[in-house]
Amino acid sequence: MSKVFINQLSGYEGKEVALAGWAANVRSSGKIWFLEFRDGTGFTQVIVDAGTVDAASLKVVEALTLESSALVTGTVAKHPKKNEYEVKAKSVALVGASPEYPIGKKEHGPDFLLDNRHLWLRSSRQWAIQRIRNTIINATYEYLNREGFIKIDAPILTPTSCEGTTTLFQVDYFGEPAYLTQSGQLYLEAAIFAHGRVFDFGPVFRAEKSKTRRHLIEFWMMDAEAAFVEHEENLQIQEALISYIVAAVLERNKVELSLLERDTTILERVKPPFYHLTHTEAIQKLRERGSDIGDMDDLGADDETLLTELYDKPIFVEKYPAAVKAFYMKRDPADPTRVLNADLLAPEGYGEIIGGSQREDDYDELLKRMKEQKLNIADFQWYLDLRKYGSVPHSGFGVGLERLVAWICGLKHVRESIPFPRLLNRLRP
Ligand code: 4AD
Ligand code: MG
Repeated sequence: MSKVFINQLSGYEGKEVALAGWAANVRSSGKIWFLEFRDGTGFTQVIVDAGTVDAASLKVVEALTLESSALVTGTVAKHPKKNEYEVKAKSVALVGASPEYPIGKKEHGPDFLLDNRHLWLRSSRQWAIQRIRNTIINATYEYLNREGFIKIDAPILTPTSCEGTTTLFQVDYFGEPAYLTQSGQLYLEAAIFAHGRVFDFGPVFRAEKSKTRRHLIEFWMMDAEAAFVEHEENLQIQEALISYIVAAVLERNKVELSLLERDTTILERVKPPFYHLTHTEAIQKLRERGSDIGDMDDLGADDETLLTELYDKPIFVEKYPAAVKAFYMKRDPADPTRVLNADLLAPEGYGEIIGGSQREDDYDELLKRMKEQKLNIADFQWYLDLRKYGSVPHSGFGVGLERLVAWICGLKHVRESIPFPRLLNRLRP
């Protein structure tokens, strides 16, 4: 008999197999029990007929409660109607009992579920989301490796900020203040001079005092950076990367997308070219939709929702006013009040999933911006050095993993896209 995983059952039709997993649901009708069984790779129905299993197995099944772990043997059969495989049980043995599992069939509030996140992760929707997250991570590595980007690990403990000082998470570094990284970008800029094209992928931290459906305190970012790449090419790389990731999920996570009841027609449309708007055009569209946003304002979360509801594909909003963006972004030579940046907004009201730009590569210009923003020049001398020794035009971007997962899965809140969310009011479990 073969020990198999549920997602391999189709290859074992008519054969006897052994499964190891948990009871996701148990119901009986007379002498037959229907056990919804999961093993991490998927869900299947185990049919236990009192007439055909041994007495010991029957005793186990009669007492089986939600989320008990068990070993099942039986014969694989194709579901009479659906394109699914089920198992006609021969034996069922208990591994670990699960008395009164707290998450049931009834509706639970978000706080209850988050308090029980360690258990909630097992439920089918949460299972599907993490599987899709895994595909997104792998597809990101695949695409970038294929395109010649090598992974460079940026530090997590840093002496300075990358994305403004208001969201810094301070820690004590042996008596000296240090900060948890907001983005590995500045370190990747150093690495391109050694490797040309690089990326990082790891946890970043923002002490955001905002309680929105898009903000986490700890989240995962993939920063990519490339030498000799200017604004337009930077956007092409992002477009190709996101298209590759979405195609990978559509291909590898059909079961998960269907469990989430995700409308995949929009995902199928995610192919280059994406929509492009300048910041000026975006402001115009927002005003037409009733927003009172000013000409040189940043787009807030509500503006992004309002704008992206109009679109069926991701949208680049390019060339924001320099005043609302980071010090390292290169000015647009055609209009020095603006920068050569783009935020990539996901459609369907999701908003920003990527922030990126061409970087200022001129020593004096960069120094000027840093002084304007009152940065401590001594702390950033190493970063200025990069403009002193063989400077090149270069660009990069950062993908917020959880925002991307939330959009691809069609989630209402980003908190479900990370295994253990860290929110303004939540550090546990
Ligand atoms: O736009 P951001 O702040 O850009 C940077 O940090 C650049 N240094 C990246 C780069 O150019 N290498 O952040 C990048 C992305 C955002 O587009 C968003 O998807 C996500 O990170 N993000 C958050 N996700 C969840 N919670 C938060 N508080 C987030 N803040 C940003
Ligand atoms: Mg941003």
